[in-house]
Amino acid sequence: MPKQLPIAMLGDPILRQPAQDVVDINDPKIQELIDDMIYTCQQVDGVGIAAPQVFRSLRLFIMASKPSARYPHAPLMEPMALINPVLEAALPASNNLELGWEGCLSIPGIRGRVQRYKSIDVSFLDRYGNRHERIFEGFLARIFEHELDHLHGLVFLDQIASHDIIVESEFQKLVALGKHLNP
Ligand code: NI
Repeated sequence: MPKQLPIAMLGDPILRQPAQDVVDINDPKIQELIDDMIYTCQQVDGVGIAAPQVFRSLRLFIMASKPSARYPHAPLMEPMALINPVLEAALPASNNLELGWEGCLSIPGIRGRVQRYKSIDVSFLDRYGNRHERIFEGFLARIFEHELDHLHGLVFLDQIASHDIIVESEFQKLVALGKHLNP
């Protein structure tokens, strides 16, 4: 049975540490970690979670996009583990940035407006060790970039101005007005 893992909160040094490559994907401990991270992400209603957020400094994260009140246009996907992921390129080279609101399981109660690439070319290994090269766009690109930052010891607050940071109750007012979709 997968178990719910404790989540590191901003201030914990593990969130600021660069993560290490996963060496042996078939290690039962890695497979168990993936199952536990997928379960944890679902239990806390997240759309992604990175291994450092569950106190494992490994280059591994889960993407689990699904539509919600916060993200009504989010694509529905089977939760997926991305191992040793790489952002190969942003596509196209110019005019490929978009502002959007983000939150983070490690930073409860805070939302921020973050500029991200709209369209990216990425590579990663899946949990069976198969290498994939994919294009992610929009919300999926945003999740990938947010989670990849965690593997570099970064959080979404690091790259935004303080006037783009708001508390959850103010964010909910924007959601009620549908204004969170057009920053
Ligand atoms: Ni996060």
